[in-house]
Amino acid sequence: MGQKYYITTPIYYASGDLHIGHSYTTLAADALARYKRMKGYDVYFLTGTDEHGLKVQRKAEKAGKTPKEFVDGIVARIKELWRTLDISYDGFIRTTDDHHRKTVQHIFQTLYEKQDIYKAAYESWYCVGCESFYTETQARSFPGMICPDHGIPLERVKEESYFFRLSKYQDKLLAHIEANPEFIQPQSRRNEVIQFIKGGLEDLCISRTSFTWGIPVPFDPESVVYVWIDALSNYISAIGYPDDLERFNRWWPCDLHLIGKEILRFHAIVWPIILMALDLPLPKQVFAHGWLNLGGKKMSKTMGNVVDPAVLVSKYGLDAVRYFVLREVPFGADGDYTEESLVARINADLANDLGNLLYRTVSMIKRLSHGKIPSPGPENEIDKRFKQACLGALGRVEEQMDALHIDGALEEIMALVARANKYIDETAPWALHKNGDPRYGTVAYYLCECLRIVAELLRPFMVLAPEKIGESLGMTETIGGRPWDDAGRWGVMIPGQDIGEPRVIFPRVETEAPQAPAAGGEKESQPAGQGSTREITIEQFREMDLRVGKVIAAERVEGATKLLKLQVDLGTEVRQVVAGIAQHYAPEELVGKRVIVVVNLAPAQIKGVLSRGMVLAASSGDTLRVVTVDGEIAPGSKVK
Ligand code: ME8
Ligand code: MG
Repeated sequence: MGQKYYITTPIYYASGDLHIGHSYTTLAADALARYKRMKGYDVYFLTGTDEHGLKVQRKAEKAGKTPKEFVDGIVARIKELWRTLDISYDGFIRTTDDHHRKTVQHIFQTLYEKQDIYKAAYESWYCVGCESFYTETQARSFPGMICPDHGIPLERVKEESYFFRLSKYQDKLLAHIEANPEFIQPQSRRNEVIQFIKGGLEDLCISRTSFTWGIPVPFDPESVVYVWIDALSNYISAIGYPDDLERFNRWWPCDLHLIGKEILRFHAIVWPIILMALDLPLPKQVFAHGWLNLGGKKMSKTMGNVVDPAVLVSKYGLDAVRYFVLREVPFGADGDYTEESLVARINADLANDLGNLLYRTVSMIKRLSHGKIPSPGPENEIDKRFKQACLGALGRVEEQMDALHIDGALEEIMALVARANKYIDETAPWALHKNGDPRYGTVAYYLCECLRIVAELLRPFMVLAPEKIGESLGMTETIGGRPWDDAGRWGVMIPGQDIGEPRVIFPRVETEAPQAPAAGGEKESQPAGQGSTREITIEQFREMDLRVGKVIAAERVEGATKLLKLQVDLGTEVRQVVAGIAQHYAPEELVGKRVIVVVNLAPAQIKGVLSRGMVLAASSGDTLRVVTVDGEIAPGSKVK
């Protein structure tokens, strides 16, 4: 058996359907678990549901169900969501599981016998959203005595309760945190915890008598165990504590508890103290990430400002959603969710950069090398540097992942993709081929190797795209079956082997933005000089890559009255472009014309026909004319 890696997510309240905030933690854990498995670790990835407590009991009452009926329905939907997102968890714990209940009672009994638990009268404030007690001073500091995170009024609690002596372990915990800088991360959160402990820990109320939906205190069945003691214990009950010690010792201590920042104190103070009281080792690391906000506020079931991940997946595709969630926000910081930023990421990173790189490479080899992967020829400095960039990517991605910079790892992969697109521009393989230069083979082969490496490196993050890339490259075995270290090797692709078909793996998401005639032709554009056009900077203009292209063939698109399919020579390649100009031009009128093409537009399927770029045209009323250049100029010339 390999080295072990035990990673957990919080167990989510079974009080309603989950949103992308929960999916964020779970996807991050999934990427880390997949990464560690590829690195040869024996991984146990645990998630689950927190099903007891007042919040759940009230939700069930409202729904007219028993608590158990209610949570069973929610849990089924949560598991369905994790299937939709292809979460590779190994264990799913429910706090209503029989074994878990016994473990919690065992823990409560043990701490009571050790006299770490005592009974006393209690009066305090409570937020059901947090399932958390607040002192008089804390409660008064919230405007209107309303919980700032959940927007609901605090409730007064007055009960005979059991207390857990946190204060007794305060110094020991502080010493542990100070001696183990990696224990609580990120650094800023670690400092907050240290300050909080130094302020003095109060004993924690750990039982309730005013409701019944919980695990009964073993020696006092009128009381139920406080939901947080119940919930935190999941991390050890799920791996067999206390009656399967062999299994427990295989996995414990946990390598990483991944959580959101609002539950850090429970994980960095209460949980370690429970473990100390049980004489068990502490987890190696607790990492608290930031919040996904919607409309400036934490996305939350209680607040109701949520986005359903399943809807996003059906709209944009699984890998696009996985990519966006893991890439968009620096892991640890807060970030805003907007659908516009999701669409922008898909179009820029996935459709344009990655999708285009694959498409350009495969279609070039298909056309110029009779569909066979070329043999590399001589190598110059540019090629050498590019190869180095490809070979270095594995180490750079690992460095980021080992530091839990999940977004940074994806950034490294996408930087390599951008580098490869630049390599095509620098080397102009179509021109090399035309001139019979043997370096054409080098460039084409290096691009295939680069794409293979990209596909391999994407495996912890995306679940479908790596295989699609592999297939398009004509790889005969699955990408998933290849060793992780393959991404650090050169010369894996076999020259002479058949390449696959060019595929659009991430179609561009068309937004409501005005479309130029190529994509439809029917939309009226604003006449010039009316002062209503938004100004752009020269940099924004330069982002557009406009080239002169010579139309070498044109035909109608079957079943579409407005569309023509053009083959346009761009000097370094011939591209197929679909233009909405069939009512204004007969196909043969266009052949030989030098038109202007937007070449860095992401590929799109128009009426099922692939279009890679857009031909510029001017229109006024019923008239439409394509834009041409004044005189002879080589195809591929830049328009600026
Ligand atoms: O706290 N942004 O469960 P919970 C980022 N049952 N992460 C978010 C998020 C957001 N807007 N919303 C939720 C509980 N999360 C307890 C945990 S563990 C022993 C018991 C994620 O359903 C994040 O990981 O309120 C957060 O900590 C967790 O969901 C809270 O889920
Ligand atoms: Mg919460």
